[in-house]
Amino acid sequence: MCGIVGYIGEKSAVDILLNGLTKLEYRGYDSSGIALNNGGHIELYKAVGKLNNLKENIRPIKDELDKSTIGIGHIRWATHGAPTTVNAHPHTCNCGKLVLVHNGIIENYQELRAELEKQGCLFKSQTDTETVAHLVAREFDKVKDLTEAVRLATQRIEGAYALCVLHQDAKDTIVATKRNAPLVVGIGEGEYFVASDVPAIIDYTKKAMYLDDNQIVTLTRTSMKLIDKNNNEIKGKVEILPWEPVALSKMGYKHYMMKEIHEQPSIIRNLLSGKITGINENLNLNEVQLDKETVKKLNRIQIVACGTSLHAAMVGKYILEDFCGIAVDVEPSSEYIYRKTVTDENTLVIGVSQSGETADTITAVKQSKKRGSHILIVTNRPDSTMAREADSLISVCAGIEVSVAATKSYMAQLISFYLLAIYIAEIKGSVDKELVKKLKKELIVLPEKAEEVLSQENQVKVISRKYANAKNFIYIARGINFPTALEGALKLKEISYINATGYTAGELKHGPIAMLDETLPVLSIMMKGKVYDKILSNSEEAKARNAKMIALTNSSDEKLNELFDDIIRIPETDEYLSPILAIIPLQLIAYYIAEFLGKDVDQPRNLAKSVTVE
Ligand code: AGP
Repeated sequence: MCGIVGYIGEKSAVDILLNGLTKLEYRGYDSSGIALNNGGHIELYKAVGKLNNLKENIRPIKDELDKSTIGIGHIRWATHGAPTTVNAHPHTCNCGKLVLVHNGIIENYQELRAELEKQGCLFKSQTDTETVAHLVAREFDKVKDLTEAVRLATQRIEGAYALCVLHQDAKDTIVATKRNAPLVVGIGEGEYFVASDVPAIIDYTKKAMYLDDNQIVTLTRTSMKLIDKNNNEIKGKVEILPWEPVALSKMGYKHYMMKEIHEQPSIIRNLLSGKITGINENLNLNEVQLDKETVKKLNRIQIVACGTSLHAAMVGKYILEDFCGIAVDVEPSSEYIYRKTVTDENTLVIGVSQSGETADTITAVKQSKKRGSHILIVTNRPDSTMAREADSLISVCAGIEVSVAATKSYMAQLISFYLLAIYIAEIKGSVDKELVKKLKKELIVLPEKAEEVLSQENQVKVISRKYANAKNFIYIARGINFPTALEGALKLKEISYINATGYTAGELKHGPIAMLDETLPVLSIMMKGKVYDKILSNSEEAKARNAKMIALTNSSDEKLNELFDDIIRIPETDEYLSPILAIIPLQLIAYYIAEFLGKDVDQPRNLAKSVTVE
């Protein structure tokens, strides 16, 4: 993960670097650092913990540092070596004249380190990155040219990297390069920016160039030169970013997560608008670039994703198979990429990712693309690396999601899957027309129903606090809401650190039931439909083992009051669409428990918003 920034121009570099790192804090937040070229002398500033610690360290000397107009910065999510000041980037060579920041993983760093140590390099950190600093510095000593040194050094590196490098003797120059990690160059008037992601530069310029793998860019205040790995000069594709600077604001909420949960009704509304134009008219999904004949011939769909996006994909599988009669496999990208998968020209591969930068999903998508599959990407970032691999691109338009716990992007992914399934089903004529009409009607009123769920926030808060001291939690569901159980449990785990697990309710008696006693809350997701009675029986079985029982239901059945200690009731909707409403109270439960326990809701420990390493 990690975020990197670089600046060369006439302005104070420190402001631009710190502002850029603030925008990249979603990529990691266990330490940070900057290096400034101060009148030909390189100075380093680092701090452990949140970026604010670095800002505080710098505050007393800020006026002095404002003179520097060249610098690089880094925000870290630790891979190799604990989050300490020594392991924080930028890293340096022996003499300290070369500094660099890195995002990615150097896979052959141990061999390189052993070799460099033999040659007299003194390592200070436990990071893989420091090998690159020594490697580039050694090449620089030989060739006296920073670009060439970076080119030669990166040829020895295996793995993924985005690098930004400064050398005291390569005056007024920044060199940057990448392989399997994102890097964008911002182009200003007499200034250049480098960053892992657009938000870090968009406040300053909309003119930018994305680097392709193995390209190396050399920046001075007035020039930008791009070469490939063979030292051939190439012309980069300069584009105008379709972005507006976004002032990130919590809009009065205590945390971004809560703000994002509350944005969900309008996200549903926006996504449906222009797509469902009338219940008797076929749904509009111009994003899908498959002709109707190819859609009819599809015999298999493979969906790859991670984490929350994987859970959205599981709901997607359920409806795509039911509506379209096409076999759908859903697999975590990290598993998919290490096995042989069976695909042919009639297979559609769907990559789902909020960030569009998840390394495993990018690899999975690239592998499938090589095998000739049509690639459909469902993402919140149409400018991401993954989106650039897409043959068809569904942009879920949820707006920037700041909180590490994905909420509104999950909602937007769900809605996108409903639209996709109905779109394919209408082309194939594979689903009962009356059912489609009913679903369209129901989808249109879902934003109001989602608002109704949110209006019960206080009741959910009270229930959440009652269970906040539980050490373990079980979520059970069946059918289309099994992914809801998994997602509810993931939300609770990641922000409250309570061990929460989602099970298909039928599996409970095949093992997990042994854990049940009065200390363990079981939350049953019971939506009216095919499996309602079954899950009711499974809940009875759990109750008989003295578990504390919570129901999340759209049934008004009074008898539930005897079985359950607490009940959260949500509006009724078609069973197929119930995951859309059912997830909202589970997001709120996770939020209120974490907040009650005093956890860092938006930036939970050990996590990062964008997982750019495999
Ligand atoms: C969700 O709350 C998590 N933070 C995480 O599981 C996330 O969904 C996962 O890392 C996938 O990210 P992506 O959607 O950006 O690919």
